[in-house]
Amino acid sequence: MEKVIERKGNNLYPSNLKVKFGNYDLDLDVPAGVWNPTPHGIHLGNMLAKIDFTGKHVLELGTGCGLHAIVIAEQGAAKLTLTEIDEPILKNARHNLKKYGCDLPVAYIVADWTNLEGEKYDVLVTNPPFTKSGKIYRRYFIDTLILNAHKLLKPGGELIFIHSSMANIPRSIKMMEENGMEVEIIGETSGPFRKYYFEDAKYMKDIASIPNGYTMIDGKHYERLMVFRATLKTNENC
Ligand SMILES: C[S@@+](CC[C@H](N)C(=O)[O-])C[C@H]1O[C@@H](n2cnc3c(N)ncnc32)[C@H](O)[C@@H]1O
Repeated sequence: MEKVIERKGNNLYPSNLKVKFGNYDLDLDVPAGVWNPTPHGIHLGNMLAKIDFTGKHVLELGTGCGLHAIVIAEQGAAKLTLTEIDEPILKNARHNLKKYGCDLPVAYIVADWTNLEGEKYDVLVTNPPFTKSGKIYRRYFIDTLILNAHKLLKPGGELIFIHSSMANIPRSIKMMEENGMEVEIIGETSGPFRKYYFEDAKYMKDIASIPNGYTMIDGKHYERLMVFRATLKTNENC
């Protein structure tokens, strides 16, 4: 497997991921430079394993090692389009899909987040960067995802993504509704903070001002994680 270029930041160390989503036992290679799936990605994978994607063309933004793409393929998708910020990450996703034996048509595209032209999809799935978004405006990827969903989805298409309480759940729900979407929460869980949250003092300060951003239990911080399934009622603002 090709070595993925080193990029700065935590959570990009080499690992092997053994994970079970519903009936799927995955054993994936995650080289240095590819995002190591966190509880966010795991929770999203568990929810995807319950969804019927039969016949759908599914777009996944920021596929990383491809863990969700495999589940979506196995759940019946007709076609996948997977994006990432650079080619070596996509090569790793391709390696993992091949390892798992996915044989549907897959387009691998280097693209900057929602900056994709032309095609409209039945479903858009993603685990958007937030804690480590690298942007001054931390919600950048979430907001652009919601604002640009109408450019990427067919009318009646679905946006499925994982969201932490720290990113401001009421704000995202309101934004989706303002942009013509009907919002459902299909899975909620909670978990302790990751070690790297505490290493970023500005992050800890920012999230302290988010209403119900986290809870403290026995002196420990916990975030809530939920998967949104939002249906685009119309894309008339295209
Ligand atoms: C939170 S990680 C999720 C990765 C994988 N889907 C998972 O759940 O483990 C976000 C992913 O988005 C990718 N990403 C970051 N900035 C991006 C951009 N501007 N355009 C496309 N993808 C980007 C990262 O490389 C990373 O793989």
